Amino acid sequence: MSEDIKEDRMESADRTHFGFHEIARNEKVGLVRSVFDSVAPRYDLMNDLMSGGVHRIWKAALIDWLRPTAHMELLDVAGGTGDVALGFRKAGGGKATICDINEQMVSHGRDRAMDHGVFHGINWCVGDAENLPMPDCSVDAYTIAFGLRNVTEPQKALMEAYRVLKPGGRFLCLEFSHVVIPWLAEVYDRYSFSVLPQLGHWVGKDRGAYQYLAESIRKFPQQAELASMMQNSGLELVSWRNLTCGVVAIHSGWRL
Ligand SMILES: C[S@@+](CC[C@H](N)C(=O)[O-])C[C@H]1O[C@@H](n2cnc3c(N)ncnc32)[C@H](O)[C@@H]1O
Repeated sequence: MSEDIKEDRMESADRTHFGFHEIARNEKVGLVRSVFDSVAPRYDLMNDLMSGGVHRIWKAALIDWLRPTAHMELLDVAGGTGDVALGFRKAGGGKATICDINEQMVSHGRDRAMDHGVFHGINWCVGDAENLPMPDCSVDAYTIAFGLRNVTEPQKALMEAYRVLKPGGRFLCLEFSHVVIPWLAEVYDRYSFSVLPQLGHWVGKDRGAYQYLAESIRKFPQQAELASMMQNSGLELVSWRNLTCGVVAIHSGWRL
C-alpha cells in the first residue's frame, strides 16, 4: 500500500462528522455534550413542539414492542430525561437504569421524575454508550432512543449493548431514519431545514443545536445498514419497523 493511501486511511479513521461538518473524531463527544447542555432545560418542550407530540407515540411503540414484565431489568442508554424508562415502569417493567453522558439531561430528568412522584425503581447514572459502566451480561433489555445518532462510534456502542445484555436479552433502538415515500421525504426535508432551526432559535434558544439535529438525521445509516451494523455486533434475529413512513424506525435484535 502506498504511503499516500495509508495516510488517507489514517486520516479518515481519525475523522468523523458532526452534522454535515467533518471534524476530528475526538472533538465529537464535546460538541454533542455542548448541544445537550444548551438544550437540556427546554428539551422536553422542544420535543413536543417539533413533533406535535408524536414522539410520545413513537416511544410508546418502542415500549409496546419490548413487552415489559415485572422481572425485566432495563438499561436505557442515552436516556436523557427518562421518557423511555418511565414509560417502561408504567407499563409494568422491573428496575430501570438510565445512563446518559450528559449530567444536565440526567439531572433535569431526575427532577422531573421527582416532581411526578417517581422515587423508586429508577437509577440515574452518567456514562458513555461506548464504554458503559455496567458488567457483562447484566441486563434483560437495552433501549436507546434518539441516542445512537449522537455517539461518536455507533458500532462500538452496539458492541457495548451486546456485552451488557444477558443471553436471551433484547436490544431495541428508536431513531430518526429515512422516509420511504419520495414526496414526503421532500416535504420532511423542507420542514427539517427551515422550521426546525427556527423553532430551535425561538424556543430552544439555540438554532445551531436544531440545525445539527436535521443534519445528523441525514447522516445516520439507512434502515438496512443499521440492521447489518447490529448483526456485526453479534445481535441476532434483527428486524425493524418503520413508523410515520420511516421518519423514525425501531430496530430490534437479540443476544442469543
Ligand atoms: C436526543 S436525546 C434523547 C434522549 C431520550 N432518549 C429521549 O428519547 O428523549 C440524545 C441523548 O443522547 C445523549 N448522548 C449523546 N452521546 C452519548 C453517549 N456517547 N453516551 C450516552 N449518551 C449520549 C445526550 O446526552 C442526550 O441526552
